[in-house]
Amino acid sequence: MLKRSSGVVVTKFLAALSLTAASIALAAFSPAVHAQSAGDAQRGAKLAYTCLGCHGIPNYKNAYPTYSVPKLRGQHPEYLVIALQAYRSGERSHATMHANSASWSDKDFADMAAFLAGPVVAPAAAPKPVGKMPAAGQTCVACHGTDGIGITPQYPTLAGQHADYLERALTDYKKGGRKNAIMSGFAGQLSAKDIRELSRYYSAQRPGLDTSKRPARR
Ligand code: HEC
Ligand code: HEC
Repeated sequence: MLKRSSGVVVTKFLAALSLTAASIALAAFSPAVHAQSAGDAQRGAKLAYTCLGCHGIPNYKNAYPTYSVPKLRGQHPEYLVIALQAYRSGERSHATMHANSASWSDKDFADMAAFLAGPVVAPAAAPKPVGKMPAAGQTCVACHGTDGIGITPQYPTLAGQHADYLERALTDYKKGGRKNAIMSGFAGQLSAKDIRELSRYYSAQRPGLDTSKRPARR
């Protein structure tokens, strides 16, 4: 049951519903993704120190294949927890991130996510799109907005993210390296050209994500 207190979410949910297949939108709201509570960023700072060796260095690259390590600062911490669970379970096949998530609990994830994300990117009061939304993006806006800000805490913000990382992620959803049911469906319909254009578009939007800050001392 949807409660009155979550009125904003419900409104956005209905907007998403009207634009996408009902079953897909409902899958996105399955109770499993609501399981975690707000994390303890101070504890997270200690746990996530090694993570910053990759996520705290601007423009750091994954090797073989080469693409940018994703920006986490400003991302929804709830989404970061879902992503970490997907690496841990193998739903996302990235070997290094599997190794970096395998031994942690959901509480550890929530704490690290709170620290790595910091203050969440908020939508601009009067958003001005940078460039023109590619035609293939009409379905994406229901969940990722025109401005690239995920409309619920479970939907990732794409604004400001590295374009080569977004391209890699979409290709993985399309080809099976990531098995998320919602995104596999949407990415499966995109051509390589659509993926490139959408990645560039969302990467260019501001305000957007940033590289996580490295603390001055250990
Ligand atoms: C050796 C470099 C490296 C280290 C260390 C590392 N990561 Fe990652 N991380 C990556 C790469 C590369 C990706 C993108 C993987 C992919 O293609 O799915 C990633 C993806 C992620 C994502 C998904 C972001 C998104 O937008 O979906 C999260 C969350 C994350 N890492 C958190 C962590 C945490 C927490 C740690 C420490 C426990 C950590 N990472 C350590 C390289 C690293
Ligand atoms: C019904 C809501 C919905 C729609 C519509 C949707 N997405 Fe997503 N998107 C999600 C969710 C949920 C995730 C997280 C999936 C996961 O856990 O891997 C996601 C993940 C992503 C990611 C990975 C982000 C990251 O940090 O790794 C990209 C890129 C993306 N979507 C782009 C798109 C594009 C482009 C479209 C349109 C073709 C689209 N999405 C349509 C809900 C949606």
